[in-house]
Amino acid sequence: MQRFIPVNEPLLNGNEKKYLAECIETRWISSEGPFVSKFEEQFATRVNRNFGIAVTNGSSALDAAVLALGIKPGDEVILPAFTIISCAAAIVRAGAKPVLVDCDSTWNMDVSHVEKKIGKRTRAIMVVHIYGLPADMNPILQLARKHGLRIIEDAAEMHGQTCYGKPCGSFGDVSIFSFYPNKLVTTGEGGMIVTDDKKIAEKCRSLRNLCFLPQKRFYHRVLGFNFRMTNLQAALGLAQLERMNEFIQKKRRMGKLYHELLREVPGIELQPVKTSYAENIWWVFGIVLDKKIPFNAFAAMEKLKRMGIGTRPFFIPMHMQPVFRKMGLFKNEKYPVSERLARKGFYIPSGLALTEEQIRGSAEAVKTIIAE
Ligand SMILES: Cc1ncc(COP(=O)(O)O)c(C=O)c1O
Repeated sequence: MQRFIPVNEPLLNGNEKKYLAECIETRWISSEGPFVSKFEEQFATRVNRNFGIAVTNGSSALDAAVLALGIKPGDEVILPAFTIISCAAAIVRAGAKPVLVDCDSTWNMDVSHVEKKIGKRTRAIMVVHIYGLPADMNPILQLARKHGLRIIEDAAEMHGQTCYGKPCGSFGDVSIFSFYPNKLVTTGEGGMIVTDDKKIAEKCRSLRNLCFLPQKRFYHRVLGFNFRMTNLQAALGLAQLERMNEFIQKKRRMGKLYHELLREVPGIELQPVKTSYAENIWWVFGIVLDKKIPFNAFAAMEKLKRMGIGTRPFFIPMHMQPVFRKMGLFKNEKYPVSERLARKGFYIPSGLALTEEQIRGSAEAVKTIIAE
């Protein structure tokens, strides 16, 4: 019997050990160590931004980004229903109201639904790039200009991807990334805020560091957080960043092979290979069961688990989260595309350490459960 194929296994066989050993040898392990600013600079350069602020994870990056834009109680922020809770949570924690939009056939926010959600209180659009394809940034930027809105770009999953030839993460007034181990570049846990605006960068740096006053330590006019990334994490990140081009190529090769093996299987929907503005980077390889398949994603995932294949469910949309319902949010709201994706969608092994044999094995298992 083949070994269990995990849904994700990162590749850590570059300079990771060497840079980590350097942290230990020099005793620089905290956020004050030199790898942090190196990682910030190199990552920001990679996505064409002036400033990078390394933080503890993508979720804290979103919290700081929302606050740094001055979003406050009474404001509204538009975002996709189909995303991770971190997005809506950051808006709610700032005291503002999340306003949802359903997705389109790319599984991203349907940009044609955004304008009707803009009202007097709307301050920003939080764009989230999903799974392998970015959201269509041009119409979103046009709407933001027309209505004077800020853009928060969640590029957590979109390392190395472009939109209209420009790096994802280069579009927002403030943009964020995650470095969780299933991401192209990982630091174990970690995140990065990027921006070209010096004031936003300074606010994020301050929020990350408990809003210490530089001229008077342990004295605070504003409440901040400890969102600091350690030198150990940044060491890992830097080693990973060195291999980013190789990782991008590997992801694209993996996605292409999965797509070839699965595109003609009846009863499943895959994310499009490309749109007019981007080619899929296949961060994860998602599968959505269609109406003809008599079971849902959870049953499919159970069957695959029994066959030794790791999977993860798709996001559960924000309007279906009990925590928000209890707050009185999203009452009677329906987002049918997001709801279908949550019911019928899951992803199969997609980590960078995956071998061709494992890809073929995972695809074969999917075909078997669909044919049953
Ligand atoms: C779109 C998106 N935003 C934000 C996050 C949060 O990142 P983290 O897990 O680093 O907190 C994730 C997590 O994977 C994500 O997929």
